[in-house]
Amino acid sequence: MKKDKNRVYIFDTSLRDGEQSPGYSMNTEEKLILARQLEKLGVDIIEAGFPVASEGDFDAVRQIARQIKKSQVAGLARANKTDINRAWEAIKDAAHPRIHTFISSSDIHLKYQLKKSRAQVLKEAVDAVKLARSYTENVEFSPMDATRSDRDYLVDMVSAVIDAGACAVNIPDTVGYTVPEEFGQLIAYLFANVKNMGDTVISVHCHNDLGLAVANSLAAIRNGARQVECTINGIGERAGNTAMEEIVMALATRRDFYGLYTKIKTEQIYKTSRLLTQITGIPVQPNKAIVGANAFAHESGIHQDGLIKEKITYEIMTPKSVGISDTHIVLGKHSGRAAIAHHLKKMGYALTEDQLTNVAARVKALADIKKDIYDEDLEAILYEEIYRGEDKYTLVYLNVVSGNVAVPTATMELQVGNETVRDAGFGNGPVDATFAAIRKITKTNYPLMKYAVNAITGGSDAQGETMVQLAYNGHSVVGRGAHPDVIVASAKAYINALNRLEFLKHNVKKVKVELQ
Ligand code: KIV
Ligand code: ZN
Repeated sequence: MKKDKNRVYIFDTSLRDGEQSPGYSMNTEEKLILARQLEKLGVDIIEAGFPVASEGDFDAVRQIARQIKKSQVAGLARANKTDINRAWEAIKDAAHPRIHTFISSSDIHLKYQLKKSRAQVLKEAVDAVKLARSYTENVEFSPMDATRSDRDYLVDMVSAVIDAGACAVNIPDTVGYTVPEEFGQLIAYLFANVKNMGDTVISVHCHNDLGLAVANSLAAIRNGARQVECTINGIGERAGNTAMEEIVMALATRRDFYGLYTKIKTEQIYKTSRLLTQITGIPVQPNKAIVGANAFAHESGIHQDGLIKEKITYEIMTPKSVGISDTHIVLGKHSGRAAIAHHLKKMGYALTEDQLTNVAARVKALADIKKDIYDEDLEAILYEEIYRGEDKYTLVYLNVVSGNVAVPTATMELQVGNETVRDAGFGNGPVDATFAAIRKITKTNYPLMKYAVNAITGGSDAQGETMVQLAYNGHSVVGRGAHPDVIVASAKAYINALNRLEFLKHNVKKVKVELQ
């Protein structure tokens, strides 16, 4: 079948490049949930992880490969036998498996990191692609740090891996160094000089160190690239990767200019973004393009006046096109199980009867203390009731005494495995006292890196959404909690971070590779 030259393939690496960045680690259950949503979103290729990195990574990639049917599932591997064999082992059961292998091509990396000659690295790249091809026809190769590589060496490497059987060659701007004009020219140079290009898909993978990842990817597309590697909310190493929602909406909104399309179901974008923030506990900044809280909020009187007269005056795309609904108040005290089920269905969630019973009970309890329940409140409940895996610690009760004359004291009971443990803690304030009680009960004392509180929706009865980041052995984990009482939300976030840390402890990556 002839390839459609106007289609841009979307390769999502949230579960690999995104997940390896500080604070974004996810457990297997969470990765599966995100992978299913990425499939719903219409992602062409899901990079599920780096199987050789740890048992946990391997297991997650294997489970994703077994469950995802429509999207291709890629496993990352360095250009060596162990990595490639392990990647194949993890993805071989996928409906559409892809091996993504890479090695550096810049003299800087060759001299200081690999300590190998250009000829040696070229041979390793070719051998890696050949080995991967012995397993599957679907092989992608990346010359890491391509944008700081000698152009003619890059041409030689790209030509050689195509000869060896790579069907996609990805050009990474590993350190986020390039700028749009230069990157566009590099892609054009490859098309002009790689003589065996044929049907090979040229992909790009940009990092955002100079805030140019999306612009660089667009410049590459303009010059013939037809696959973009990107992440939800732009998460990823350091300043992150190309943000999927931005690249997709740029192509959709400016189809008049680019004349290209993707198969992404744009109405699923907001939901996917929210799911990621629910899982990781890390919110996007309010002014983030496409998915930030203010992305469609018009504050200026002149703009509002124009919008009332005609939307096109100040709106280049509709909130609906990315899945943001106009009306947010959804449920209240009198909403029954059927109404809750109906609304969840409209939001795209299909729950089992048991799950629905639990969620309905939580909605009722919340409606007793909060008048209106919004989509975002429902998502917070869904996350806590359904998405979380088996936890070691669960909050049973919390009682806090605080004020300007009392010593803040928190009395708390936690379920720890099969036991219930009760104790009290003191602190400078109610949150400090609560965290002290948790530390006592769990006999842990991980450094607290960050603590933040947000209101999920507006109003003084809004649920507080809290985030707690704990440090562990050079890694960090983020926990989140939501409740109308911010102290309870804080306790939940701390406990969630401890539960995530338990998972991390058993899955610390064995291979410490500088992927950048
Ligand atoms: O940034 C990078 O170069 C990478 C490669 C593994 C593609 O993430
Ligand atoms: Zn990267």
